[in-house]
Amino acid sequence: MKTFKMVRGMRDFLPEEAEMLRLIEDKARRIAQLYGYKEIITPVVESYGLLAAKTGEEVRARMYAFKDLGGRKVALRPEFTASVARLVATTMRNEPKPLRLLCIGSLYRYDEPQKGRFREFWQSNFELIGSEKPEADAEIILLTNSLMKSVGLKNYAFKIGHIGVLRGILSREGLAEDAQNRALQLMDKKQYEDALSLVKDAGASEKCLTLLQKMVKVRGSNIFNVLNEMKKLVEKYKEAYEAVNNLAEILELISEVQKLDITLDAGFARGLEYYTGIIFEVYVPELDIALAGGGRYDRLVELFGGEPTPAVGVAHGIDRIMLALQEQKAPLKFQGEKTVMVIPVSEALNQEALRISEILRAEGIPVEVEVMGRKVAKALEDANRRGTPYVVIVGERELSEGAVTLRNMEKKEQRTVKIEELAKAIRTELH
Ligand code: HAM
Repeated sequence: MKTFKMVRGMRDFLPEEAEMLRLIEDKARRIAQLYGYKEIITPVVESYGLLAAKTGEEVRARMYAFKDLGGRKVALRPEFTASVARLVATTMRNEPKPLRLLCIGSLYRYDEPQKGRFREFWQSNFELIGSEKPEADAEIILLTNSLMKSVGLKNYAFKIGHIGVLRGILSREGLAEDAQNRALQLMDKKQYEDALSLVKDAGASEKCLTLLQKMVKVRGSNIFNVLNEMKKLVEKYKEAYEAVNNLAEILELISEVQKLDITLDAGFARGLEYYTGIIFEVYVPELDIALAGGGRYDRLVELFGGEPTPAVGVAHGIDRIMLALQEQKAPLKFQGEKTVMVIPVSEALNQEALRISEILRAEGIPVEVEVMGRKVAKALEDANRRGTPYVVIVGERELSEGAVTLRNMEKKEQRTVKIEELAKAIRTELH
């Protein structure tokens, strides 16, 4: 007989893990409600061209891309932002702004499997579309903070930068967008030496190289000191200077509203190519991979044929949040309802057991009915093992009086209850 293994990089979620994933999704949906985001559902399969346009070399090279049977070049989505921008540029182009959209689902990247890096993973992705104001950037960071707090994460910190600062410098030096992208990809991977030699080869001045060398060392958690240092460094680069001012405005707004743990990093770059403004990631001390990442992307909608539309967003890595909670030994507790078990004393009463189970479910009580044909003692043993708090035993004698036996498993006590009063009896005992 042939047995099958899971495909490398894929995972099964057993009940406990599946429950945790769904719980985090529920928290994300609650945050969406609190901040006014509406959920949309976009397809897992999108055209390769759309997904490849601005995802950056790192993600582009790892896409699950293939031709479908109609010969179309397609790919499994590696992120949500391209799909959202497509919608905003087309079907949703006339929707009043701001638009606040939430996507939750699975994404696919052919990453090398390792701790916290999977080929199928889940995100909750928030996009705020139509505002160029710092309040919009602040909202995305604040809602990310709310989510991290609401799942029970401790000691999480934001790493923040502004891609407009680095691009402002590189553009002034006349670097083409392609060369800028390659340099920023290297900086994202912290290969600063390689990034600088690329910038040099692309024709940047010595002055610029010295400046970049200094820039990539400017970081710290005293954000207003770091901002001042950045301002001093880029004084002569107008666009970069404006970008630092924009960053300062956003951070000032946030600091008046929430006390966040922030490290500001002037040399911070992210792999995705569509960013134009603030960029950020979230970390916990237990893991060296980001739990969430986001930023401002003001030109993507336009690139996909829409009106010029400023936008900012974030994606929270649900798998990594789960991992971080496990590392912090603070797994989310599921406050699920307890299930009642219904056991017939003989096969002749199977139908009655089904009927009584349906009555209880109609009253909103979760029921597992005995389907293994076991004797009562064996079925009770099983109920015990599963921690079932109450068992309904359906017996001939009680049934003839329209009643059943309700057993409290913990107290090992039982009593006879009329079927029409059963739901109420269980509910009062359960609470
Ligand atoms: P990203 O940084 O590529 O951004 O991904 C966001 C988060 O998804 C990461 O911080 C991480 O938690 C999770 N993630 C990414 N790759 C993997 C993987 N292989 N395994 C497990 N988790 C992973 C984006 O996707 C952007 N679309 C975010 C965004 C939205 N920017 C603006 N709007």
